[in-house]
Amino acid sequence: MPRGLFITLEGLDGSGKTTQIKRLAGWMEKRHLKTAVTRQPGGTATGDRIRELLLDSRSAALAPMAEMALMFADRAQAVAEVIEPALAAGTTVLCDRFTDSTEAYQGGGRELGSAIVLEMHRLVVGDLQPDLTLLLLPSLEVSLSRARRRNDRQTAQTGKDEGRFEQEQDAFYRRVWEKYREIAAREPERVVLIEGNLGIDEVQEQIVEAVAERLVVGGKTL
Ligand code: TMP
Repeated sequence: MPRGLFITLEGLDGSGKTTQIKRLAGWMEKRHLKTAVTRQPGGTATGDRIRELLLDSRSAALAPMAEMALMFADRAQAVAEVIEPALAAGTTVLCDRFTDSTEAYQGGGRELGSAIVLEMHRLVVGDLQPDLTLLLLPSLEVSLSRARRRNDRQTAQTGKDEGRFEQEQDAFYRRVWEKYREIAAREPERVVLIEGNLGIDEVQEQIVEAVAERLVVGGKTL
């Protein structure tokens, strides 16, 4: 059986990833393509507990290395429990964030640098890499205002506090943004960069085009 395609969505908080992943899953479903959707951190029972620890504002004193190690602990669990079995069964996996997030946020934002993140990936995840990464990069200003609004709304509605990253300063997000651009420039084959303040439909069109190019069904590209 041919392996499934491993597709990741990346971008700053508030870049529209979650909306787009839902739309892409719907598009795949209409075409009867076996698809699994997951996210990081989270996506497994253990991962959801790690997510809570990572995103809660009370974890303010978390050291950058501890933060990076927890991201990889979550990832190791997700690869073993969800991602690898799905790919082996020929299912396309749509994953909301993967190691590029660690490189951008911990490597760039927290200034740990790329080398240690890539080395940790090699040790923990081995040679598993996405076949395609869709990187959504609307302007920094748009992403930040959307993310902060959404977090305030979510906390008011659910009482759940996932705001630790949104409370970071703009300089942190500028570094995340720049690291994402660096990754896109380094790996243009894998990473499709979708830039600018585009509407939801326009972004979806670009996503579908990139995905369809890589999906081969019954020997034919879709
Ligand atoms: P989410 O809200 O898109 O699920 O992302 C959760 C937060 O975790 C987001 O602010 C980005 C951050 N994050 C990292 O800092 N490093 C990582 O490796 C991952 C996967 C997420």
